[in-house]
Amino acid sequence: MKVIRTITELRRELSLMRKKQAIHSEETIVGLVPTMGYLHQGHASLMKAAREQSHIVVLSIFVNPIQFGPNEDFESYPRDEQRDLETARAEGVDIVFIPSVEEMYPQPTQTTIAVSGITERLCGASRPGHFNGVTTVVSKLFNIVQPQKAFFGMKDAQQVAVIEQMVHDLNMPVDIIPCPIVREQDGLALSSRNVYLSAELRQEALVLSQALRAAQESVEIGTAVTAKDIRRLLHEHIGKSAHAVIDYAEIQAFPSLEPLADQEELNAYDDLLIALAVKFGKTRLIDNIRIQKMEVLSHV
Ligand code: PAJ
Repeated sequence: MKVIRTITELRRELSLMRKKQAIHSEETIVGLVPTMGYLHQGHASLMKAAREQSHIVVLSIFVNPIQFGPNEDFESYPRDEQRDLETARAEGVDIVFIPSVEEMYPQPTQTTIAVSGITERLCGASRPGHFNGVTTVVSKLFNIVQPQKAFFGMKDAQQVAVIEQMVHDLNMPVDIIPCPIVREQDGLALSSRNVYLSAELRQEALVLSQALRAAQESVEIGTAVTAKDIRRLLHEHIGKSAHAVIDYAEIQAFPSLEPLADQEELNAYDDLLIALAVKFGKTRLIDNIRIQKMEVLSHV
């Protein structure tokens, strides 16, 4: 596994690897897994998917300053390079790209990528500028690595929708591969930020996955019929936790992220996303569940 810190060296190494690979197959698939490090099994699942679907796997680790707001946790974001390299090696990654902030953003930079519409809701509403930071860094990584496939977790479902929109609008030649959310046994979605939680808040944070599962069940058994039913149920569930402060508890169409009006009936939609952002103390956690209508098989 190569650990590379500069764009020039990454390009040189990738070009060599592509040439070697071209001897064995007609099309070389480079798979990119973009991360901010402090890797856990959620990240590992993306590396596994990339390993299965690509000839060359590139993992990027970069805590991207421009996607953090002024009062957010950029400085204190957890970092552990040595442990991350061990995880990457265990997952069979070929290249780990760990650029510095200066390498990614030589000053002055004057270009950013901004997706409108879907970035203004949910996390975009409470973290202004966040998604512009994400789309800018992801498009830079796409240009630097030129992957055929890029792997993203549905943990950040809005991020997936935004990146798919960007790739579509700007004709970027990369397939976005969304991967399922990895959870702890008790249901908590894995996140680098879970380390911020005290034992007490860690326990309370279980209301997120519990509320989502309850919402899914009530859609399935038919006790929730409208968007309002879902919103009420989510608020009731999360309200049981003493420290939870809801940022949003929403239901929308996926991937457009068009919000449903209160009285709208859920069965009018084939693909819905129920998404939560909740603060426990200073720690803001997100989680979601997708409800897709199964195709009804007609028997002849
Ligand atoms: P980061 O939060 O490090 O996440 C990197 C990738 O891992 C994202 O695609 C995220 O959705 C995925 N991921 C995180 N937790 C997961 C879980 N429990 N199950 C499955 N996948 C999970 O997302 C970012 O970094 C940044 O915004 C980035 C895209 C790297 C741009 O800076």
